[in-house]
Amino acid sequence: MSIIDEVIELKKARRAVILAHNYQRGEVQDIADYVGDSFGLSQKAVDCEAEVIVFCGVDFMAESAAILNPDKIVLNPAPEAGCPMARMITAADVKMLKNKYPGAEVVCYVNSSAEVKAESDVCCTSSNAVKVVNSLKGDEAIFVPDRNLAHYAQKFTSKRIHAWQGYCPTHHLITAGDVLVAKMEHPGAEVIVHPECRPEVVDMADGVFSTDGMIKYAKNTGKDLIIGTESGIIHRLMKENPGIRYYPLSPYAVCPNMKMNSLETVRDSLRYMKTRIVIPENIRTRAKKALDRMLEVGR
Ligand code: 13P
Ligand code: SF4
Repeated sequence: MSIIDEVIELKKARRAVILAHNYQRGEVQDIADYVGDSFGLSQKAVDCEAEVIVFCGVDFMAESAAILNPDKIVLNPAPEAGCPMARMITAADVKMLKNKYPGAEVVCYVNSSAEVKAESDVCCTSSNAVKVVNSLKGDEAIFVPDRNLAHYAQKFTSKRIHAWQGYCPTHHLITAGDVLVAKMEHPGAEVIVHPECRPEVVDMADGVFSTDGMIKYAKNTGKDLIIGTESGIIHRLMKENPGIRYYPLSPYAVCPNMKMNSLETVRDSLRYMKTRIVIPENIRTRAKKALDRMLEVGR
């Protein structure tokens, strides 16, 4: 039996659903029931009726699914896959910020630990950060941990944002020089980038989107695209919108953590029901409030 058939059989036996982020390896995306961005995956984790969710992404994504679904079994096939940006802030840092800016609500990018979410008022993803910030009652916001997403959101709000100085090491490798070179090499193509990119890269782009936003944009533009985000998304772009060409903005934009899943880790996860993600209840309930508020505002 092929490993793909093994996964299909185990999935049926376990009544499981496989969710995968757009940056996963192509073969993992191909066996998933749903592939999407952080927001779409959170929604899917809530809406799906499966008893078991196998979450192929990095740790904060499986954690979010577990926070939102205490009655479902959430499995992370690669629990060692973390997000370095999420590790750039702690719950103690958030408490310190709340003392420093007592009038400001805390907006927490989902790329964060459950403990950090528990200290926050509302979560956001790259697809709804602007909407979430603008939904706050006050005129000040604390935004953690991504300084680049905060900088992007600041352009579309009159609220004053106090940003934590975290960043994504993968998107950090995409430079303004890369944009200049790519535009010269592919003069007819448009540059679309993720808001985790450096501000100067965002300023030079023709469009700024979450990963699902890029998939949607590719469906409607007739032009070839230069892609300023993690390279895994090109698999889905080529599969769903094969009519145009895609050029990675930088060959270095690879997130090693996102590549830790494989057909083997997914099969073993279903075979041995590992690694189950359980969040301590006192943290889970507080973190869930911040995620629920995002799901309410962000849709
Ligand atoms: P998206 O929500 O746009 O998929 O982004 C998640 C992420 O980790 C980007 O680096
Ligand atoms: Fe984290 Fe960046 Fe990897 Fe996304 S691409 S999971 S933000 S390190």
